[in-house]
Amino acid sequence: MFTLETTATAAYVVAALLFILALAGLSRHETSRSGNSFGIAGMAVALVATIALALGRHIEPLGIGLLVGAMAIGAAIGLWRARVVEMTGMPELIALLHSFVGLAAVLVGWNGYLHVERDLAGPEAAVLDGQHLLGIHSAEVFIGVFIGAVTFTGSIVANLKLSARIKSTPLMLPGKNALNIGALVLFLVLTVWFVITPQLWLLVAVTVLALLLGWHLVASIGGGDMPVVVSMLNSYSGWAAAASGFLLSNDLLIVTGALVGSSGAYLSYIMCKAMNRSFISVIAGGFGIEAGPAEDKDYGEHREITADGAAELLNSASSVIITPGYGMAVAQAQYGVADLTRKLRDRGVNVRFGIHPVAGRLPGHMNVLLAEAKVPYDIVLEMDEINDDFDDTSVVLVIGANDTVNPAASEDPGSPIAGMPVLTVWNADNVIVFKRSMASGYAGVQNPLFFRDNTQMLFGDAKDRVDAINAAL
Ligand code: TAP
Repeated sequence: MFTLETTATAAYVVAALLFILALAGLSRHETSRSGNSFGIAGMAVALVATIALALGRHIEPLGIGLLVGAMAIGAAIGLWRARVVEMTGMPELIALLHSFVGLAAVLVGWNGYLHVERDLAGPEAAVLDGQHLLGIHSAEVFIGVFIGAVTFTGSIVANLKLSARIKSTPLMLPGKNALNIGALVLFLVLTVWFVITPQLWLLVAVTVLALLLGWHLVASIGGGDMPVVVSMLNSYSGWAAAASGFLLSNDLLIVTGALVGSSGAYLSYIMCKAMNRSFISVIAGGFGIEAGPAEDKDYGEHREITADGAAELLNSASSVIITPGYGMAVAQAQYGVADLTRKLRDRGVNVRFGIHPVAGRLPGHMNVLLAEAKVPYDIVLEMDEINDDFDDTSVVLVIGANDTVNPAASEDPGSPIAGMPVLTVWNADNVIVFKRSMASGYAGVQNPLFFRDNTQMLFGDAKDRVDAINAAL
């Protein structure tokens, strides 16, 4: 028999399959568009089924009004933000969206408590108690609120750090690891307590505890590790959604949450491996990283070069490697860089690009910009493919990159970015660094590259400087 319930369940299965196809598609550049389309289709099916189910359960007109109103407002804000967001602002927007998932999980958890545990003598609690499910419900409420609240404040801190509204250097509270472990132990104790005797103050306590823990976990992580944090929060938001799915008895939310949770965790793991970071250390809020922010060492004087000087150097070069970074994206210098590449290649210079896995602010950021400016794919190489070639290179142009070319990562064990693989640009004969000042990069660490004998600084907006070199050439 087809009932509304069975049809909705079938629709949920279809939506879950579409989400799996979406993830599969998004894992490769060539199929990412179709992956996105599967995701949109899955979400449309899920929304229609959920709304039809709600209407079939005869919710009050006020409920329908709220549902439609919330969807209209949410869709309008979502469309507006998606249209205006710059590529460079994408990670901070994603972090903000994760915070909404966390907040939603907290609200769903609290709602679950208000419906059931608040009135243990009431009908809902009696039904669950009769099925011996009251304890499980209480655990779902508690765990859902905890994961949701950690995700909520963690994502807000990530958003503030990524948008540079707070400093990206790690917060180093004394005994920070003990604080994190203590919070987890306290959470376990409170959960057992709440399952045995559900009380309001326990729920308030776990909410406050988790909000503080989320804040502390992400605040303790240095800027260089933020890409991993964003994907880790993506994972947390998935688990928060899955916890809400259990409370709302919504199978699709459980499946989708688990998909997001596990794929986010796997992405964090891959990123940690690429950046030579310990996965456990990063998810535990910088556990084991005790080095403080780098001291202001005196590296001596830096040398400067003009655009004409750079053009002269390039004129006599036989091989050039360009290592772009976040500054190229900010300046939108990729078109000028593509022009420069064409000019040099026409003169027989071997020009290639070296792309660091976390250059810019999101995975693949530089590849997208260079593809947009029609730089041929075959001269755009990954860090591992090009790192041995700097020795035989006449000139390296570091365009708006900083942390990704910092020798301290490989040479200074006390540096906050120690161990992170970097592009070894300093091995080339000449290095020209394009930036506007001597300011540090995203990780907030000074870069000794700028003071090396073979490095010259070309100050100014990257686009203007590249255009000036093009004119001089
Ligand atoms: P950064 O270390 O952030 O350095 C970018 C440099 O560009 C800055 O030193 C800045 O110096 C310069 N700059 C900014 N605007 C400019 C402009 N208009 N013209 C010229 N220069 C300009 O960049 P990176 O080397 O690409 O490293 C990426 C960092 O971001 C890493 O620490 C990474 O961990 C982090 N991160 C990456 C991701 C992903 S997944 N890629 C996500 C989040 C965070 P001035 O201010 O002096 O000009």
